[in-house]
Amino acid sequence: MAEGNWYTADVERVVVTEEQIRERVDELAKQVSTDYATAESVLLVGVLKGAVMFMADFARVLGRLGPPVEVEFMAISSYGQGTTSSGVVRILKDLDRDITGRHVILVEDIVDSGLTLSWLLKYLASRSAASVEVVTLLRKPDALKVPVNVRYVGFDIPSEFVVGYGLDYAERYREVPYVGVLRPSVYAR
Ligand code: IMP
Repeated sequence: MAEGNWYTADVERVVVTEEQIRERVDELAKQVSTDYATAESVLLVGVLKGAVMFMADFARVLGRLGPPVEVEFMAISSYGQGTTSSGVVRILKDLDRDITGRHVILVEDIVDSGLTLSWLLKYLASRSAASVEVVTLLRKPDALKVPVNVRYVGFDIPSEFVVGYGLDYAERYREVPYVGVLRPSVYAR
C-alpha cells in the first residue's frame, strides 16, 4: 500500500486491503460465471455511486470469463450526509431500459441494514426480470434489520462505518483503493 497519500492520515485502520479485494472479486466473478454458464447474458445493475469501483472491476473479470455482460446504473438516495440508514429510498436515476426476461444481478457496495436492498429487490421484481440475484462486496451482518437474500458476498465485516473503494463519508474517500475506518477526529471537523 502506498504511504503518504492525502488520506493516509485520516484512515485509522484498513479493514480490507487492495489485494484482498482483487482476489475476492476474481473468486466472485468465477462463481457467477459458473452459475450463469447457460445464460445468454447477464445484466449488471449497479447502485450509484458506491458500487462504481466494484462494478468496474467485477464486470471486467466476469466479462472475460463469460457470459457477456451488460451494465446499467440506478441512483438512489438513502443516507444523505450522515452515517446511519434512514430506510427512506428515493430514486434519483431509474433504469434506462426494460429488464423483462433478463437475468439481473444487482451490484452493491455494502449491505448494512438491508433496507435499501430490500426495497430495490421488490422494485426489480416488479419489472418482470427472469431472475434477480445480488452481489455485494461488503456486508455487515450484525446490522441487518430485514431479511434479504444475498447470494454473493465479498466480505462480512463488523458493524462500523467504513470508507473507500467507492464508499464515502460526506462524498469523500471514494477513491481510496482499500476499505478502512476513519479516525474519530475526521467526524469532528
Ligand atoms: P442499508 O439500507 O442500511 O443497507 O444501507 C445501504 C447503503 O448505505 C449502502 O449502499 C451505502 O451507500 C450506505 N452505507 C452503509 N454502510 C456504509 C458504510 O459503512 N460506509 C459508507 N456507506 C455506507
